[in-house]
Amino acid sequence: MTYYIVNGSPRTNFNTKQLLEKTAEGIKRIKENNRVEMIDLYKLNYKGCMACFNCKLKEGSFYGKCPIRDDLEELLEKMWESDGIIIGSPVYFGNLTGETRSFMERLIFPKFHYGEGKILERELPVGIIVSMNLNPENGGLCYDKTIFEPINAFLESTFSKPEILKVYDTYQFKDYDLYENQIFSKEHKQQVREENFPKDLQKAYELGRTIAKKG
Ligand SMILES: Cc1cc2nc3c(=O)[nH]c(=O)nc-3n(C[C@H](O)[C@H](O)[C@H](O)COP(=O)(O)O)c2cc1C
Repeated sequence: MTYYIVNGSPRTNFNTKQLLEKTAEGIKRIKENNRVEMIDLYKLNYKGCMACFNCKLKEGSFYGKCPIRDDLEELLEKMWESDGIIIGSPVYFGNLTGETRSFMERLIFPKFHYGEGKILERELPVGIIVSMNLNPENGGLCYDKTIFEPINAFLESTFSKPEILKVYDTYQFKDYDLYENQIFSKEHKQQVREENFPKDLQKAYELGRTIAKKG
């Protein structure tokens, strides 16, 4: 079984990536020979959907596929044939990162059906892990409407109902004393990092197990 984990954070060793590494562990835990391919989006060259609509062209050679030739070309084909895809992203200005959104346009749109039923004939397990600075008490819940509802709807109608993990109140700087910041308390952030983040890592691990059990 092959699973793709996609890191949509420019940082390849911080909150989002650490969560995704745990997800990979969870997947491998279900079956020793489960294969996990970890992709860092910021290392690739690609664009979002170009609205050429070749993927929707009746009897066209790219129906259900994407004709754009770039670093996503082969990767998308492999992902559509895989046993599960997990995408992680930080929140940037109230949404997923630009690279994550461009990637998701390319991943979802060719298989998104303007009509009844699905283009992909089987359920493809998907998971989403989103890390953010805000928490449910100071505004983080507003992303339920703007980020999570649309993602849920598009993924469900194209691949399958996604497993979603929301990780709030993350540690943004490695050392809060070094950076100009009058809004977020260093003590609060440290406490959350020590008490909550390990629980979030465990949830990311469980998400991996859940996806692998569906595969
Ligand atoms: C450019 C930028 C914009 C951000 N915008 C938001 C935001 O709108 N809401 C939020 O909760 N956090 C925001 N954050 C914080 C990140 O989402 C948060 O620190 C995240 O966990 C970082 O993930 P990483 O450690 O994988 O890079 C922003 C961070 C950056 C760098």
